[in-house]
Amino acid sequence: MRQKHSDYMHWSKTQSRARFNLATSGVAPFPFHDLPIDLKKLEINGDDSYGYAPLQQAIAAHHGVDPDCVVESAGTSMANHLAMATIIEPGDEVLIEHPAYGPILDIAHYLEANVQRVCRPEENGWAIDPAEVRSCVTPKTRLIVITNLHNPTSVLTPESVLREIGDIARSIGALVLVDEVYLDAVYENTPRTSFHLGPEFVATSSLTKVYGVSGLRCGWILAQPDLAWKMRRLNDLYSATPVHPGELLSVAAFKHLSLLRGRARRILDSDRKLLRDFLKQQSNISAVSTDWGTTSFVQLEEGNADDFLERLRTKFDTSAVPGRFFEMPDHFRVGMGVNTEMFAEGLKRISRALA
Ligand SMILES: Cc1ncc(COP(=O)(O)O)c(C=O)c1O
Repeated sequence: MRQKHSDYMHWSKTQSRARFNLATSGVAPFPFHDLPIDLKKLEINGDDSYGYAPLQQAIAAHHGVDPDCVVESAGTSMANHLAMATIIEPGDEVLIEHPAYGPILDIAHYLEANVQRVCRPEENGWAIDPAEVRSCVTPKTRLIVITNLHNPTSVLTPESVLREIGDIARSIGALVLVDEVYLDAVYENTPRTSFHLGPEFVATSSLTKVYGVSGLRCGWILAQPDLAWKMRRLNDLYSATPVHPGELLSVAAFKHLSLLRGRARRILDSDRKLLRDFLKQQSNISAVSTDWGTTSFVQLEEGNADDFLERLRTKFDTSAVPGRFFEMPDHFRVGMGVNTEMFAEGLKRISRALA
């Protein structure tokens, strides 16, 4: 039987919540009433063809690309699915980073890909090494998949490394899919999308994680026009036409993007400082620290993170994401950027649970 579910998504929807919820990966919800919009212009029904032009243009302008390269999708989730389903045939080799965001692996298995892994070693600061990528690809590799920023660690892969990975892909006729849903959480000198690095790059993203408007499900793929067209055609088999009020509100969100992004940044900056100070005081946990991103991947020096997190939730009403969802059961992921008071109290409770 093909895999037809995601254990991580199921856990996230049913078991991740607690009073002190550090199992998040996106920033605080941006309140609807703070979005400067004219409600009279909201409509229910719209253009049912391949993409709402003002939204295509807003996404294209955000990235400095041609609107023909933009495919609208329901969040980065559907963007990843559409991109992979368009590119992969059953039996194709797909090289995926380890540790990986679970649903990316789940999609590859669902599509009956032959999944291979390339390790991001913790001792190398979770960096992806092009030499390692080179040693893992074969002539049958069709796609290399990475996240940038990396989920769960928030580590940034620099453009020079992405270029090398692109060269490797080109040499074997493969493509590189870069999930960039967290990239705009690099607030200073935000890197441009990897899509600019060459025709072998396909990038996915959305407004869900860094902008606080997950409910709009505004996601997209950047791909060469011929591939983009195939993705739009394939989407006719999935969500077919988007929710039009969502498209209108997404266009409004793009108009006020710096407002949405700035608000979350203040919370993230405070939370990151708290996390750094907290980690310095702890002797039995450690994490690679980054200056950006919404998550941190913490290693528990001793014991099993599942047992620890179970106790943390039942006795301390605090949650974080078990590392087993990233195939690293002695780690757990902590999310920042929602509410600094809640985050501070969550850290205190982690400390008490560790004691
Ligand atoms: C790396 C990565 N890609 C995609 C998603 C899904 O994003 P969206 O909410 O835009 O569907 C997530 C959500 O946590 C993620 O971490």
